[in-house]
Amino acid sequence: MLQKIFFLLAYFLLFGSAHSDYDEAFVETVNDEEYRNYLYGDEVPLNRVDRNGRLLYSYPQNPIINIMMQTAAPNYVPKNPNDFFDFLRDSYPLPGGLKSPYDEYDYVIVGAGSAGSVLASRLTEDKNVTVLLLEAGKPEMLLTDIPALAPYFQSTDYTWQYYMEYQPGVCTGMINGRCFWPRGKAVGGTSVVNYMIYTRGRPIEWDRIAAAGNYGWSYNDVLYYYMKSERASLDGLEKSPFRSRDGEVPVEHVPKKTKLIKTFLEAGRILGHPTIDYNSPHELGFGYVQTTTTFGHRYSAAKAFLHKQKKRRNLHILPQTRATKVLIDPQTLTAYGVEYVRNRIKSTVRARKEVILSAGPIASPQLLMLSGIGPQNHLRSVGIPVLKDLPVGQTLYDHICFPGLIFELNTTGVSLSETRALNIREAVSWLRHGESTISSPGGVEGIGYIKTPISDDPDPVPDIELISIGGSLTSDGGSGSKAVRKGMRIREDVFDSAFNELEKFNRDTWSAFPMLLHPKSVGRIELKDSNPFSHPLMYGNYLTDPKDVATFVASFRHIQALANTPPFQRYGTKLHRADYPDCRTHIFDSDEYWECALRTLTATLHHQIATCRMGPVGDPLAVVDPELRVHGVNRLRVVDSSVLPRTVSAHTHAPAMMIGEKAADMIKWTWNVLNVGQTY
Ligand SMILES: Cc1cc2nc3c(=O)[nH]c(=O)nc-3n(C[C@H](O)[C@H](O)[C@H](O)COP(=O)(O)OP(=O)(O)OC[C@H]3O[C@@H](n4cnc5c(N)ncnc54)[C@H](O)[C@@H]3O)c2cc1C
Ligand SMILES: *[C@@H]1O[C@H](CO)[C@@H](O)[C@H](O)[C@H]1NC(C)=O
Ligand SMILES: *[C@@H]1O[C@H](CO)[C@@H](O)[C@H](O)[C@H]1NC(C)=O
Repeated sequence: MLQKIFFLLAYFLLFGSAHSDYDEAFVETVNDEEYRNYLYGDEVPLNRVDRNGRLLYSYPQNPIINIMMQTAAPNYVPKNPNDFFDFLRDSYPLPGGLKSPYDEYDYVIVGAGSAGSVLASRLTEDKNVTVLLLEAGKPEMLLTDIPALAPYFQSTDYTWQYYMEYQPGVCTGMINGRCFWPRGKAVGGTSVVNYMIYTRGRPIEWDRIAAAGNYGWSYNDVLYYYMKSERASLDGLEKSPFRSRDGEVPVEHVPKKTKLIKTFLEAGRILGHPTIDYNSPHELGFGYVQTTTTFGHRYSAAKAFLHKQKKRRNLHILPQTRATKVLIDPQTLTAYGVEYVRNRIKSTVRARKEVILSAGPIASPQLLMLSGIGPQNHLRSVGIPVLKDLPVGQTLYDHICFPGLIFELNTTGVSLSETRALNIREAVSWLRHGESTISSPGGVEGIGYIKTPISDDPDPVPDIELISIGGSLTSDGGSGSKAVRKGMRIREDVFDSAFNELEKFNRDTWSAFPMLLHPKSVGRIELKDSNPFSHPLMYGNYLTDPKDVATFVASFRHIQALANTPPFQRYGTKLHRADYPDCRTHIFDSDEYWECALRTLTATLHHQIATCRMGPVGDPLAVVDPELRVHGVNRLRVVDSSVLPRTVSAHTHAPAMMIGEKAADMIKWTWNVLNVGQTY
């Protein structure tokens, strides 16, 4: 690994980076204010200097980064003062020394995220097929490979800094009372900044999606595609028929864990939850977290599907390129190209066969609407000519969780602590073989599925996922980085009031985040205006159904029951009495107190889905058909997590890659078997 670093370092010193000052640029077609919004969103968290070299904003500092800098690049000086992350960045030059892309490709894919990366890679396995992959973000770099830095990247230009529209009564403890919805903006998409947890969902959940008319999406169908990309090296599961060992995406157990994971699993067994591979289709239970990492290093969709494919002459990748519209012939309703902005210049590219949107659950519906496909009244209200009236953005589900149920232990040195992780030895150990506390994906160690008495789903469908942490929100407090608090946008005064005591004494803690798997509350997304650089308006409608609140409260009781089992009591585990300023009128530990706490720290796990919902012809909520073709529009598909029609018990990275795999086969089938040019 060290060799790899020095090679990369040498490469960058020798060849420099080919990045433009695009971010500094002014786009002719949009005004300053609009363009600024595109670059920075509502907030400006980055280290930027103005044209005279004056520092405008300062970087959020993180001690792990300082250590890494000392370890890997003692003499490193960023070449571009606007781009601190120039540091060891990957690059994707056009192959064969090409200076600019072609005017026409077989397929134009928008978005190199979890799904788009897989799709581009699979389609270009056929040498006779050309693909252009447009990506707004930059390539990843050494620091994005460090799992423990995941929360940190939520405040950098590796993310779209989206905020949900203000909703009274949720996220009340967050800055400005707004829920933060960062999304990855990188070659690799959200898989460059996510927590790397690998989950597939329950069989019955996929089977009921198929039963709703979505042929080809039953559990057995999707299992084939999950396994196609998987390269599992999971101790104890070597013989599992549900895990494959020869795909592109490594899946492993976290190499370094605290003792608390054993305690969590033991406590689970006492309460009737067997210790299993939680992705196994047969039963519900608890297990060690499985992550898309290799030897403790993040392995994004780009690493798996684009990095090694760089030499392919038929795959052109354009980072830092923003698609602004799908070009659609209004007479025949056929997509024939994409309009995009790169290096200040607006261009178009034509697609001989298909345009595919893989821009994720916010940007894919946004691009459809900007191109005239969406709810007609809404499009008219923002002045966009309507080509096809479809319920784009009208359904949105998300997975929210509560991170504030924290238990104090009477020990020291059992749980994670950033302070203890911070030394050169840990950094070098991570570089060499990954066995370091900095390989921990935000402290996540275990996953468990439970079903509370509130659920009205059939038996094998859980309603809560428990995410067991070898510490808590406060574990990075001692060293002062508080990256998790900042990443979640929790207000400092609320955080201090609730957790100061834990931090002050650097107490050992354990927590389990309950994640609501099948919310009844439904959100939506709309355009703010017709400017492609504006952020859309996102409405989460969290906790608007009382059942969602009741399910959470039931899960808090279950977590408390786990903490009361003998394995946890060995550490004198005791519920921390968090003092939330808004919840003082409620008796501590009453149901009302917990509802108030939940509304204070309403955190999302960023699994927004269903904004380009899949459904058969005649489904009034559907945007794409079961082969992911936009209803009523030719040669246009959506291939990303936005097509998932309803919630599954899964974090959405593996499902998004599976969707990319499956779409690649469907597209190949279309163009090899059907007549070229045939409409659907
Ligand atoms: C902080 C965080 C933690 C998460 N943790 C986990 C986890 O542990 N496990 C898990 O399974 N899931 C996790 N998720 C969710 C998961 O990573 C995403 O659901 C998944 O990556 C989505 O894949 P996608 O292909 O739909 O979209 P994305 O991966 O988001 O890809 C969309 C891409 O399109 C690009 N794009 C957007 N608009 C344009 C445009 N106009 N022009 C060009 N390019 C554009 C974006 O920059 C992005 O690269 C997490 C998400 C976040 C934000
Ligand atoms: C390659 O693609 C071209 C144009 O799409 C087509 O005419 C030709 O038959 C293809 N060749 C093969 C071997 O598939
Ligand atoms: C922690 O609490 C448990 C249970 O009360 C007790 O047995 C144990 O000795 C305590 N440990 C320490 C270090 O105080």
